[in-house]
Amino acid sequence: MLIDGHGRKVTYLRISVTERCNFRCQYCMPEKPFSWVPKENLLSFEELFLFVKTAIDEGINKIRITGGEPTLREDLDKFIKMISDYKSDIDLAMTTNGYLLKESAKKLKEAGLKRINISLDSLRKETAFKIAQKDVLDRVLEGIEEALNVGLKIKINMVPLKGINDDEILDILEFGKKRGITVRYIEYMENVFAHGNLKGLNGKEILNHIKKRYEIKKIGRDGASPSFNYELKDGYRFGIIDPHKHDFCEDCNRIRLTAEGYLIPCLYFDEAMSIKDAVKRGDIKEATEILKTVLQNKPEKNRWGDENNEVSNRAFYETGG
Ligand code: 5AD
Ligand code: SF4
Repeated sequence: MLIDGHGRKVTYLRISVTERCNFRCQYCMPEKPFSWVPKENLLSFEELFLFVKTAIDEGINKIRITGGEPTLREDLDKFIKMISDYKSDIDLAMTTNGYLLKESAKKLKEAGLKRINISLDSLRKETAFKIAQKDVLDRVLEGIEEALNVGLKIKINMVPLKGINDDEILDILEFGKKRGITVRYIEYMENVFAHGNLKGLNGKEILNHIKKRYEIKKIGRDGASPSFNYELKDGYRFGIIDPHKHDFCEDCNRIRLTAEGYLIPCLYFDEAMSIKDAVKRGDIKEATEILKTVLQNKPEKNRWGDENNEVSNRAFYETGG
């Protein structure tokens, strides 16, 4: 069993399989051009899997594949199959921008993927373009339909931004409600890579938009999930992820691994330790020791919302939000 330095049980591994992305979301990607980590610096799926097996043996029972955009990495279905063949009852999920799902959803489902979270920040073509800096909406909507068709369980992520898409909070809710898809609103997490002038809505402001049309009942968090859930009168549930109030950090059960082999204990902080050399040498014992050291030093909570305007130095495109 994996226990961190604050006594929390760690059962959830998020693996970013690439930092590359075919979108340039304003809240994630730098405005200035930059270069990607060369492909030869990444761990192969075989190498990542060596670590995944040990992590599962140590008690990880939930894995989420993230990016960048994970569907850009070749042979992703093979990696998913390796994991699901090793432990078929693992909760195996992915976070994606949906752009390539029309082509890939079926293959990924057949490989053993169970659930996906798809980013949908706007239902207006121009606004979706403005946020992702590319004409993405039609393909994302097709991707969502395809994922539903092949039987993947879906959630939608929306990051409400002042003056950009905050007038669509109810539209996104209706979109999800109509299809039986849970919508999760995520407070914008300030980070040094994002575009400078963004302002997110806080949980209360998001709720105020929804209260204009609906009566809302508080439900609460489901286990260690960071999402605080609410219910409408007809039973439809949605959630708000509110990292500026750190109550979910108390139950944090997660650890992140990047494509380059860095273990990252907290989304907010820049700290990381590499398992790359150990894995490349096939030294799983050392990789497990590094994992345990990282967990021992896992921060108690993030710093968003502390004092004045705390901003994370961590690149979200490396860790997938
Ligand atoms: N703030 C909030 N959410 C973010 N994501 C990425 N960057 C941020 C940020 N700065 C989330 C989005 C996206 C997912 C991959 O991660 O929901 O859909
Ligand atoms: Fe790509 Fe996701 Fe970052 Fe958007 S948030 S640029 S889709 S990695």
